[in-house]
Amino acid sequence: MKITSVEFVKSVVNIKELPTENLQEIAISGRSNVGKSSLINCLLNRKKLAKTSSTPGKTRQLNYFRINNQFFLVDLPGYGFAKVAKSEMQQWRNLIEGFIEQSKNLKGVVALIDSRIGPTLLDIQLIEWLSSLKIPTVLVATKADKLSKGRVKIQVADYAKQIRPYYNKAIIPFSVINGMGKTELWREMILLME
Ligand code: GTP
Ligand code: MG
Repeated sequence: MKITSVEFVKSVVNIKELPTENLQEIAISGRSNVGKSSLINCLLNRKKLAKTSSTPGKTRQLNYFRINNQFFLVDLPGYGFAKVAKSEMQQWRNLIEGFIEQSKNLKGVVALIDSRIGPTLLDIQLIEWLSSLKIPTVLVATKADKLSKGRVKIQVADYAKQIRPYYNKAIIPFSVINGMGKTELWREMILLME
């Protein structure tokens, strides 16, 4: 997709603050540190638009980016970060669940898993839940540059098997380092919005 404009719109910490603008939305989900913010920057060809960090738990809000005045990309807070208080975890959960259940313009979720780790229990729960809500989902395996090309193929096929009951498409290997998967993911995202 040709990116003509990218605007950071707002950070939402409370479900009552969701934008009222009537634009389609695609959300990016995954556990802390899986590479959500990096993937957004890569898709939009911007280096530092979405804040990235090697410290997990950096993104704690829903961050809305308006693309080409056409749709929102929503960077979701990461889940599964061990070092947070239970109360805070519950807060994140409420925020993500509230968003997915209440957003009227949500066209789909790009769910990220780490290509070296595969789907964790929380990843599987999320994918199962999205499937039960009939929310179209595209699965992406991040940091594919950290494995050999052959290994990526084998791993991704194995992960697809593990989640087959809830997801029956191919998983897209992705790397912000070498651009692997970028064209393919854009194609899938455009399909979600048709
Ligand atoms: P939270 O906001 O904490 O939920 O994390 P996040 O999912 O937004 O992860 P983020 O994009 O901040 O990336 C976490 C770390 O992984 C950073 O150090 C990134 O540089 C690194 N990273 C992300 N994508 C890739 C990739 O494709 N390849 C490699 N080698 N590193 C990556
Ligand atoms: Mg982030």
